[in-house]
Amino acid sequence: MGKKIKKIGVMTSGGDAPGMNAAIRAVVRTCAYYNIECVGIYRGYQGMIDADFVKLDARSVNNIINRGGTILKSSRSAEFKTKEGRAKAYENIKNAEIDGLILIGGDGTFTGGMVFYNEFKVPCIGIPGTIDNDIFGTNYTIGYDTALNTVVEVIDKIRDTASSHNRLFFIEVMGRDAGFIALNSGIGAGAEEILIPEKNLGLERLVDSLKKSKDKGKTSSIVVVSEGDKIGKNVFELADYINDNFPHYDIRVSVLGHMQRGGSPSCFDRVLASRLGVAAVEALLDRSTGVMVGITNNEVSTVGLNKAIKMNHDINEELLKVAEITSV
Ligand code: F6P
Repeated sequence: MGKKIKKIGVMTSGGDAPGMNAAIRAVVRTCAYYNIECVGIYRGYQGMIDADFVKLDARSVNNIINRGGTILKSSRSAEFKTKEGRAKAYENIKNAEIDGLILIGGDGTFTGGMVFYNEFKVPCIGIPGTIDNDIFGTNYTIGYDTALNTVVEVIDKIRDTASSHNRLFFIEVMGRDAGFIALNSGIGAGAEEILIPEKNLGLERLVDSLKKSKDKGKTSSIVVVSEGDKIGKNVFELADYINDNFPHYDIRVSVLGHMQRGGSPSCFDRVLASRLGVAAVEALLDRSTGVMVGITNNEVSTVGLNKAIKMNHDINEELLKVAEITSV
């Protein structure tokens, strides 16, 4: 049985995601509720190495539930990947008398947490925060819903101009190696085709589908391309290729980029973040370690950090079918 938890450190690491602030707020307030001290660690693992800490109490997190980004800032620390960097981080955690860590982030964050736990046995709990939704052991990651809403709103706008000019638009969305953002925003925004890394559609099929659309009298089209998709690996080259096959098409490319990571979190993400923040603190108090808290079938669940980062969170085949049927 480990040491009693009296002080918890919380940090955000990796790519930021809307709702991270709501998660920080929930962690801090749950600590206050259980009379435990809470320390914010700035800039993720780099802040651990630099002892960049701040004491947080219930009032320090007023008015942040609605704010995008992360008040604790974020980074991807190269130094933490070295043994020396982690040793420095451990010294600082020990000196600050932090008994357990809550790590809000994605797979890189959880990998760091596992290595750190194996070396120094500081208990840690992960909270999935990434717009990519690419974490196993939770149906949703914090920030994903907001990113989807952002993408759909933007595609709706692009659709207006695409339709006015009879244009074919390729819209690249984020997701790293995962197609969740592309598939769900593509369905939500009524895309013609959706290219995701999990399903290689192939160029021939895309050309064929665009031909059919043309024959059916569609005058403008939206193709959503996940940044990790193989045939859409370079969306501009893909657009050139399609242009060679359809010289009469007026084609434009739009890469949505980092706007997908910003903005005020949706209500869904705020509730998700609040639930996971409470669950993470309670898990630490129950002496759990090396797990991520998530939501499975609308219940709080836990999964080993090793599984969260290694196992595949499968694309739902039914969604692929819906995308195909609704774009006829
Ligand atoms: O993991 C979140 C994410 O936004 C990915 O979708 C994207 O591939 C990556 O981060 C971009 O990272 P950076 O902000 O370092 O350019």
